[in-house]
Amino acid sequence: MADEARINAVVSDIVDGVRAALFKHDVTFDEYRVALAFLLDAFEKNDVPLLMDVFFNTTIVKIEGKLMGGSKPSLEGPYYLENAAVVTDRLPMRDEDQHHTAMQLRGRVTGMDGRPLARATIDVWHSTPEGRYSGIHDGIPPHYYRGKIVTDADGRYNVRSIMPIPYQIPNEGPTGALLTAMGRHSWRPAHVHYKISAPGMHTHISQAYFEGGAYVEDDCCEDVCEEHVVAEKVEDGVRIVEVDFVIPKATEKAQAA
Ligand SMILES: [Fe+2]
Repeated sequence: MADEARINAVVSDIVDGVRAALFKHDVTFDEYRVALAFLLDAFEKNDVPLLMDVFFNTTIVKIEGKLMGGSKPSLEGPYYLENAAVVTDRLPMRDEDQHHTAMQLRGRVTGMDGRPLARATIDVWHSTPEGRYSGIHDGIPPHYYRGKIVTDADGRYNVRSIMPIPYQIPNEGPTGALLTAMGRHSWRPAHVHYKISAPGMHTHISQAYFEGGAYVEDDCCEDVCEEHVVAEKVEDGVRIVEVDFVIPKATEKAQAA
């Protein structure tokens, strides 16, 4: 059931914040009409989900991270597919991509008590070397560059793939036009997505970024935080992406809140 007092408090504060910005910048009636036309255009072109993702999704993710505790979460993004296959030692890739720089995804999953999470499922997915996603773009079969890793008895995972690259979010619609009008770009730094699930545990969503990579300091979705930037480390020509995760129980949220 809707909580009338909470809805009123949140919406009133949002309205107050917008009004304060309008006063601060002496926004004119002509500019007000442009904003209204923009919103109508965004609705008409089904661009509102992207608009919200670019400006507010990260905020909600940060709030959830604060309430849950454990490792900081990230955006899930629109390119997760539910039914990826279980993989053991490497993510499937196209034959022609074998020569790209290899990366090794490894680390450990534990609970808040420090105990290993055995047989947790880690969905991993990342872009192709062209910055696209399998099963989403241009007929790239859905099984490439994604898979479900199952942690061992010590909570560890270890799988090989190739490096993703930066890519642009869809920018041909009203949201892209707005970013351009603001003098901003639509690039995301190269990253790997993770979604970790285990019975009784909170489903944890994260991304890993590469130290020194393009757009790490200037992600259009403002998702990058220091904890998610993996330090440069290479072993035998393979980029090591070592990320540990601390996952709260599903019931721990209420306690944290
Ligand atoms: Fe992505």
